[in-house]
Amino acid sequence: MPKDLDALLREERVFEPSEEIVENSNIKKWMRKHDIESYDQLLERSKNDVEWFWDEMAKDLEWFEPYNIVYKWKPPHVKWFLNGKFNIVHNALDRHVKTAKKDKFAYIWEGEAGKVRKLTYHDLYREVNKFANALKSWGVGKGDRVSIYLPMILELPIAMLACAKIGAIHSVVFSGFSAKAFQERSNDAESKVAITADGFQRRGKIINLKANADEAMKDAPTVEKLIVVKHAENDVNMHEGRDIWWHEIIENMDDECETEIMDSEDTLYILYTSGTTGKPKGVLHIHGGYAVGTSTTLKFVFDLKDDDIWWCAADIGWVTGHSYIVYAPLILGVTSIMYEGTPDYPDPGRFWRMIEKYGVTVFYTAPTTIRMFMKFGEVWPQKCDLSSLRLLGSVGEPINPEAWIWYYKNIGNDRCPIMDTWWQTETGMFLITPLPIAKLKPGSAVKPFPTVQADVLSDDCKSLTEKGGHLVLKTPWPSMFRTLYKDPQRYIDTYWSMFENIYLSGDVARKDKDGYFWVQGREDDVLNVAGHRISTAEVESALVSHDSVAEAAVVGKPDAIKGEEISAFVILKQGFKATDNLKAVLKKHVRTEIGPIAQPAYLSCVEDLPKTRSGKIMRRVIKAKVRGEPVGDISTLANPEAVDGLDKAI
Ligand code: WT7
Repeated sequence: MPKDLDALLREERVFEPSEEIVENSNIKKWMRKHDIESYDQLLERSKNDVEWFWDEMAKDLEWFEPYNIVYKWKPPHVKWFLNGKFNIVHNALDRHVKTAKKDKFAYIWEGEAGKVRKLTYHDLYREVNKFANALKSWGVGKGDRVSIYLPMILELPIAMLACAKIGAIHSVVFSGFSAKAFQERSNDAESKVAITADGFQRRGKIINLKANADEAMKDAPTVEKLIVVKHAENDVNMHEGRDIWWHEIIENMDDECETEIMDSEDTLYILYTSGTTGKPKGVLHIHGGYAVGTSTTLKFVFDLKDDDIWWCAADIGWVTGHSYIVYAPLILGVTSIMYEGTPDYPDPGRFWRMIEKYGVTVFYTAPTTIRMFMKFGEVWPQKCDLSSLRLLGSVGEPINPEAWIWYYKNIGNDRCPIMDTWWQTETGMFLITPLPIAKLKPGSAVKPFPTVQADVLSDDCKSLTEKGGHLVLKTPWPSMFRTLYKDPQRYIDTYWSMFENIYLSGDVARKDKDGYFWVQGREDDVLNVAGHRISTAEVESALVSHDSVAEAAVVGKPDAIKGEEISAFVILKQGFKATDNLKAVLKKHVRTEIGPIAQPAYLSCVEDLPKTRSGKIMRRVIKAKVRGEPVGDISTLANPEAVDGLDKAI
């Protein structure tokens, strides 16, 4: 365990948001109302009065019946807004169609081939109601599970909202997952209905998702109906008696549907995420607290206002999309962009042209995407007018300072603060994050969101400063997951057994002297070289800070004397050659950036690195290769060919 993990990389630059951004921000406005003068005072006051803060926030939402207790914390279990009657969809849709919001666009969708489809809040409301009525017609009701295996098309949020509206529990399975993964998840959830599409566009090609779904359905005994969205005009087989076209079924459905009155603590969805074992964990979120937590964080962190055009460029198949493409933006009543395809199709200018075309004001993406754009060079964003942007965001992994600076300069034109939001599928909402009033340090996710008590602990539960340790959360927050579906013991073992009554995130972080958090990566990616604990993410960050490097992955290679040696794999930027000289320069670069102990013993240049479909490097695969062990299950790899490339490099 990273008892004495040495956090060696130091980033000293500080960036302040402009006065205009600070003064006009939602958070500043709220602080004025409550006579709170500074960021620190806000954090202090909210930490001391958690009930007051969240009660204030929950008042912005509509409750069928008010809650009478803000929260009840009996570790490791929490309940929020007790005895409140609520439905997230009432807040995301029903209440808006009674106001002028009804004619505002909820979504502007763009297909990879260029097709555009726009839905107002009223349109979305009607589509959701029709599909909710269809679900009801098959006997789907409160508590029933529905598995959704859809690409980034509008029917995905429509299906999710329809489930939630009638009290059913959705389980979205990322469309990039295999048939086997879909089958495993729908069987674990014991879903009654499954939803898929005839296909979708990916890099100009049609992916036959229906074929995967068919494969999955071969052994999915609980699924009675498979609903198929016609999207790609792909020739598919419809299974008699089981398969139904979406458009045919909704044709005769009423576009009004009563919203189920739920308890705040009733289940909203299950989302499977990978753990340290092979079996995915079914993270379970609920209606009330989840709605309050996600909408509050979006409103204050990304500062969304009525006229904003929000683009969270994630896939709804992950929690980022659940919270910040579907639920939170709809609750706030903003307009979101939704895009079907890949960021660099047909060329690396796609995202920037879309920002210009739709006047996107707040843009949120992942470091891996930013580094990919870095590799293509600034010529691409330079071709577009990105002046509509006001704020930028990053999520999913630590953003190395070099990528941060590139993003800040080339996309934000030196004037858009970057919100580096740390959170997890389990947390549901941003937990460690800047607010637009905070000073930023590139590579740091700044401080906990108001009320959140995060800390960095040693193995023996001591709070650490300027030292790496376990990133933990000491108090509950409204959108915290409630348990792991059908596996309450694993919930306790994984998250609550290391420290008493403290949530273990599984990440390693450092808190600096100013209280800023620097997340360094997962605990299992921590190396031990000659008694020094070094985070792979830090070495990678150092490598990527070199001009020639686009991406890097670092793993430990067992060594008889030092315990582990650092083995680095890098993808060079265009125009650089993998000479022995350059490799030596890179090793030396890490030595200068971090110190002699972090210098990679081995360094290879590769064309590609094995990645999950969400863009995360699969270090597990590289580690196995380096150790000469079997690579295990690589069915979730986006680019299995990268594994062959590794063979040559080792
Ligand atoms: C893990 C959670 C949260 C939505 C997407 C991923 C890493 C996430 C950051 C960040 C450093 C980050 C952590 C975390 N992570 N955001 N801003 N800085 N690391 O959700 O698949 O549940 O992954 O992603 O390691 O534990 P997830």
